[in-house]
Parts: sequence; structure tokens; C-alpha cells
Amino acid sequence: MAAVSRGGPPGCRIGFVGTGGVATRHAQILSGFDDVSLVAATDVDDRRAAEFADRFGMAAVDGVDGLLGVGVDAVYVCVPPFAHGEAELQVARAGVALFVEKPLAADLETAEAMGAQLTRAGVLTRVGHHWRCAEPVARARDLLAGRRVHLVTGAWWDKVPPVSWWPHRSRSGGPVVEQAIHLLDLARVLVGEVDEVHAGATGPHPDQTTSGDVDTATVALLRFAGGAVGTLTAASVLGWKHRAGLEIVADGLVVGVGEDWLEVYDGAGEPQRGAYDRWTACVAADRAFVDALCGRPVDPDRSPPDHAEALRSHRLATAVARSAAMGTPERV
Ligand SMILES: NC(=O)c1ccc[n+]([C@@H]2O[C@H](COP(=O)([O-])OP(=O)(O)OC[C@H]3O[C@@H](n4cnc5c(N)ncnc54)[C@H](O)[C@@H]3O)[C@@H](O)[C@H]2O)c1
Repeated sequence: MAAVSRGGPPGCRIGFVGTGGVATRHAQILSGFDDVSLVAATDVDDRRAAEFADRFGMAAVDGVDGLLGVGVDAVYVCVPPFAHGEAELQVARAGVALFVEKPLAADLETAEAMGAQLTRAGVLTRVGHHWRCAEPVARARDLLAGRRVHLVTGAWWDKVPPVSWWPHRSRSGGPVVEQAIHLLDLARVLVGEVDEVHAGATGPHPDQTTSGDVDTATVALLRFAGGAVGTLTAASVLGWKHRAGLEIVADGLVVGVGEDWLEVYDGAGEPQRGAYDRWTACVAADRAFVDALCGRPVDPDRSPPDHAEALRSHRLATAVARSAAMGTPERV
């Protein structure tokens, strides 16, 4: 592993824990920012860390100690759900800011324990719910402002993502915690808090039980504090991503919204449909984090949430997973 010292190019010095798919996305975006220097990366897989570091001109270092040793202003934690906890706490204890990929953990206990300690540490945190930064979400928020919402349907119908940890409940948390949590986070943003959930699930695919134990399909009834009702459906059995988003029925308006699409119908003329670039939302999320890190003003409606706020979505997602496993309603 390389030894690096503080110095070199100006800007916020950023390091990475975990150098897989989503870390690569963040590094591609951040390397285009002229107020950021990517300085070091670590991964339990040394070869991966070395390739990533080489590609983005960083040093590959040993663990969080290595990152802190070279001097960083912020660390992106891009590990799989089961691997969260220690890295965040070590970074926070050093007073360094964190961008943590969702979900916060595979379970609720780890996320709660981390939340309490991060609050005590008082460091800047942001979590990768970048849908909040997407243009269709901003437009949906404006369209729904002042209208009563009655019904929300969320659908995430997709393939099994091609990472080895995903089909294992103890490692990923399952499809709702790992993936459909984007929909739950969005529902909270656009409709409000959910009080109670009641879910059911299929169990694992009968032909794929040797490769994992996550549910193939889940359905949940959601009761919102504001009076609306909703459903969440998740299926990870297709060979393609079919749909990921919400449909919201409000007084005089139906809005369909996802990370990169918007459909609006108010009964006058044809429905309006728009497709958006999802990369733009990913860039906006990293931009908002770096601006907050540099002490610049950030529009809170166009920012990824902090850890405490993301924890509310995590509580909701884990309540759905618990309800699906137990077959009983769960208060959130
Ligand atoms: N916000 C989004 O749109 C988005 C998109 C993709 C992935 N993600 C999330 O990012 C997380 C990672 O997904 P991915 O696709 O990058 O996975 P990945 O498997 O491609 O990469 C994870 C990396 O973390 C490393 N790792 C595992 N445990 C570690 C540890 N304790 N310390 C250091 N490194 C460790 C692995 O070796 C691997 O290189 C997941 O939780 C996923 O949900 C979010």
C-alpha cells in the first residue's frame, strides 16, 4: 500500500471505503469537480482497491486508518449493507464528514446504533438517496403542493442485481431494504410519514433457493399519518428493470414519478410524460454534499438526506421486511 502525505492539489480531500460499482459512479462524478481531490481508497479486496485507485489517480491504503493517515475531509462509504458500522464510526470519531451509501445497514439495530453515535460525533453526513435531487421529483413536489394525497402505489420490478451479496437476506437486508427503500424514501418526501405497514412476501424463488434466501416478490399496505393509503410492490425475478417509481393520486391530479421519469395527468388533454437523465440526479447529490462540506448554501429540497433523516426511511423499510417475515402489521 502506498504511503501518502497531506498536500498536493487543492480542494476537498475525499477518500473511499469500498471500491465497487457505486463507488466508481461517485468517483467518476467527483473527479469532474474542480473543488475536489480524490486522495485515497480502501477495500477488503486489495486488488479492487488498487485498480480503483489507479483508475482515479488515488492511493490504495490499508483500512480507515490508512485514509485518516493521509488526511481526508470526507469519506464515501460504499460498502454492501452488511458491512456498515465500523468504518463510519471510525471516520466520525476522527471528526471527518461522511457520505454513506444506502441502505444504512442490512438490519435496523446496526443503523440505529450508528445513528446515535454519529449524532453524538456531530459530523456532516449525507446518504445516497439521490432521487431527492432528481428533477422529476422536484416537479412532482411542486405539483402536489397544497393538494391532499389519497393513494400511493409504489412498484420496483427488476432483476436480481449482479453482486454476490444481494440474494442473501443477512447481507443485503432483502429487496425492500436494499432497493425499494428508494420508493419509501420518496413516498416520505412527497406524501409524508407512514405510521403502519402490513406486508406479505413469496419467499425465495423455488428454482433459486441454492443461490439465496431473499423474497422474490413482496407487497405491503402502507398507512400514512396524513390519512392516505398506499401499496408497495417489489419483484426481483425479471431479466430487466421494468419499473421503479410511485404513482400518486391526489385531488384532481395523478402524478407518476421515478428517478428519471414523470407522468402527470389532471384530466385536461393528454397525460404529460417526460424522461430525464438519471446521471444528472447522481451529480446533483454529490454536488450538494461537496457544497455542504465547503460551507456553501444548499437547497434542502435538492440535497440527499443526512443520516438521521435516512434512518427514518430505514426504519420504514425494515418494518416492511419484518412485517413480510412475520405476517403481522408493524407500527413504524
Ligand atoms: N444510490 C444508488 O443509486 C446506489 C446504486 C448502486 C449501489 N448502491 C448501494 O451501494 C452499496 C454498494 O453497492 P455496489 O454495487 O457498489 O456493491 P459492490 O459489491 O460492487 O461493491 C462493494 C465493495 O465494498 C467492498 N467491501 C465489502 N466490505 C467491505 C469493508 N468492510 N470494508 C471495505 N470494503 C468493503 C467490496 O469488496 C466491494 O468492492 C449497496 O448498499 C447498494 O445498495 C446505491
